[in-house]
Amino acid sequence: MVKICCIGAGYVGGPTMAVIALKCPSIEVVVVDIWEPRIAAWNSDQLPIYEPGLYDVVKECRGRNLFFSKDVEKHVAEADIVFVSVNTPTKTQGLGAGKAADLTYWESAARTIADVSKSDKIVVEKSTVPVKTAEAIEKILTHNSKGIKFQILSNPEFLAEGTAIEDLFQPDRVLIGGRETPEGQKAIQALKSVYAHWVPEDRILTTNLWSAELSKLAANAFLAQRISSVNAMSALCEATGADVAEVSYAVGKDSRIGPKFLNASVGFGGFCFPKDILNLVYICECNGLPEVAEYWKQVIKINDYQKSRFVNRVVSSMFNTVSQKKIAILGFAFKKDTGDTRETPAIDVCQGLLGDKALLSIYDPQVQKEHIQRDLIMKKFDWDHPLHLQPKSASSAVEQVTVTSDAYEATKEAHGVCILTEWDEFKTLDYKKIYDNMQKPAFVFDGRNVVNADKLREIGFIVYSIGKPLDAWLKDMPAIA
Ligand code: NAD
Ligand code: UDX
Repeated sequence: MVKICCIGAGYVGGPTMAVIALKCPSIEVVVVDIWEPRIAAWNSDQLPIYEPGLYDVVKECRGRNLFFSKDVEKHVAEADIVFVSVNTPTKTQGLGAGKAADLTYWESAARTIADVSKSDKIVVEKSTVPVKTAEAIEKILTHNSKGIKFQILSNPEFLAEGTAIEDLFQPDRVLIGGRETPEGQKAIQALKSVYAHWVPEDRILTTNLWSAELSKLAANAFLAQRISSVNAMSALCEATGADVAEVSYAVGKDSRIGPKFLNASVGFGGFCFPKDILNLVYICECNGLPEVAEYWKQVIKINDYQKSRFVNRVVSSMFNTVSQKKIAILGFAFKKDTGDTRETPAIDVCQGLLGDKALLSIYDPQVQKEHIQRDLIMKKFDWDHPLHLQPKSASSAVEQVTVTSDAYEATKEAHGVCILTEWDEFKTLDYKKIYDNMQKPAFVFDGRNVVNADKLREIGFIVYSIGKPLDAWLKDMPAIA
């Protein structure tokens, strides 16, 4: 029986290993983590992350061939294949701060593997890492190996949060990179045979190590670039009277371009896009390619522009000040169907409004109050770290912020409503009731294009929708650049 151990029980390690255990009943899978409360949660009915379908998968195989444990050393020592799925946030200090990937957690995991191993192992990079990380990991392992042989594979994960289980059940592709030596190829085949339990062979791609590592960064950069492209168009649409949804639809009909990932928004967020593009920029700079670095930097710049453009639109529409005005924030997670707030555009938008002294009343169906308060006082990139690895902050809450448990309470007596996450429930709220309970003029700023703007205008709202033709009111109050 093959034994797999995965270091890191996060958004990737947990769901990925649960699906491997489900699809491969003959393989024992143990997910380990140094964060004890997270392991305790994986062993309870309240899983530490919200992901549709995840609980059913975990329930079916937990205790059968899927285990969660804090005993990192024991399970690493016993495993044939060790996945490393630890966090790789953006460095906050020192060389490459604000861009480079912080590989502290990766290095510490590699050193643990080297320390406790008593048999040969395949070590799989599951985390997203800079190109050539496998080489550094190989060095750590071989210099501390006591004669044990390690084969390093790169097997980046392409799942998206909110659809993780669906993505894992039916991946577009599984990518496995390895050394072009007989041992490397044997290791590739061993990992391939795990995925072959449920993934069709033609979807399992094998490459060299560096191609696999770079493909992951490239895929995220291409996806984020599409969003920045459509967001750049959204600004032009507002200036010209075009409708970004119509433009996206027409553009996406070209089969060479395709319809996905062309939704204009208040900006992309999440644990992956911002940090992986910054990392790509840093790698380009380190490889003497400043023009290429500059090209990818623009994707981030447009994303930052989109968030500040949104804040400016809110402030300028409301007579150039939101000081002491209650603004309801609907949605805080970086996208719907997840409770994850890492790099969510809501943080920047809220901080922008707080900078103008707004009073915020925030509602998100999945994000806890403490979590929102913590995110709003944290320094940029500290958000990237799991809770227990985040620096403690001196103050515990932002005074101007309240967090409510429903959208109606959040919007009561507010001057404006900002929709920052595309939760389905925001489409079906009783906007007449909301309007009646708000200050007038009442504004809705839809950062995700989820509401029917015409219906809201009929109720009496002044509505701003990203990339859509502007109300006469908004035309008269141009956003200051
Ligand atoms: P996460 O922060 O949710 O989980 C990482 C876990 O690793 C944490 O629980 C942490 O305690 C643990 N950890 C850190 N160092 C450890 C050590 N030395 N020993 C044991 N445990 C340790 O991160 P995540 O979202 O699961 O992402 C993991 C990696 O996968 C990142 O590189 C990320 O870029 C990549 N990725 C993430 C996604 C996503 O949707 N979140 C998708 C694809 C790839
Ligand atoms: C992304 C990649 O999709 C996934 O393949 C990779 O493994 C991890 O990074 P994730 O960050 O979970 O996944 O979510 P994704 O659906 O890609 O959305 C990222 C951000 O882009 C969200 O803030 C989302 O709201 C935004 N987005 C997405 C848009 O603004 N417009 C779109 O058309 C699509």
